[in-house]
Amino acid sequence: MTDHIRFVHITDTHIMAGGKWPLRNSNMEFDTDASLCRVVETVRSLEPAPAFAVLGGDLASPDILYRDRTLTPADYAPSYARLKEILAGLPCRAHYLMGNHDNLEALNRALRPEASADARCFYAFEDAGMHFVALDSHEPGHADGVLDMAQLAWLERDLSAHRDAPTIVFVHHHPWPLGHAWMDTMTLRNGPDLMSLLARHAQVRWLIGGHVHSEQMIQRGGLTFLTTPSTCIQLSKLGGPTHFDPGPPGFRVVDIEDGRLSTYVVYAR
Ligand SMILES: [Fe+2]
Ligand SMILES: [Fe+2]
Repeated sequence: MTDHIRFVHITDTHIMAGGKWPLRNSNMEFDTDASLCRVVETVRSLEPAPAFAVLGGDLASPDILYRDRTLTPADYAPSYARLKEILAGLPCRAHYLMGNHDNLEALNRALRPEASADARCFYAFEDAGMHFVALDSHEPGHADGVLDMAQLAWLERDLSAHRDAPTIVFVHHHPWPLGHAWMDTMTLRNGPDLMSLLARHAQVRWLIGGHVHSEQMIQRGGLTFLTTPSTCIQLSKLGGPTHFDPGPPGFRVVDIEDGRLSTYVVYAR
């Protein structure tokens, strides 16, 4: 293992080409394009530069602009194209996860050209002696998430084959309620299945999620669950009438040295 590896977790970018996020119960709109640009600029200023970025889902969300109909992959394409354009400014390669707002076919065509258009977006990769796993908790038409039996079986095989490598797992949805009445209607429905699977693999010490647009760190047994703020709007702390507050955009820096993880969140003001 090398001495040190740094990566960034950037999530809930919610790019909607040609539009801005209309905040509920207010007249405000939030420019998710501009806020992601600010985040990318801030990532570029990190010393040392990250080895890679993980994009944690809800990457494009033109569906927020058209809640009255189901959008097609073609409807999503301009948003992923714009996302790709902004992320080209990152100083490192990127790995992508699906969130509840994403469209698999459009994401694959824009961001994972090596995958077939209908390939599910779960996979593993290695870096610096570490093992990293990206899960796909997206279920079309649902705001909450699920991991189907085939994906859980794949995860069991993958982790069994990498017992000696310290492992970080990424998933969009939170696997248990976090105490926010609205957000907790949109958990990972079979979170307990995921947690009992991970508990059988002691090398998995960290689980990193998005979706909740807020910064959390929760320890359960040998596992630490981290969530990362959105690059756009953040969850209202007290569950106020608007659900979300405008910004500030944030992302997470993760440093691993000799198998020990340290992390902090950066807000791009
Ligand atoms: Fe989100
Ligand atoms: Fe989400």
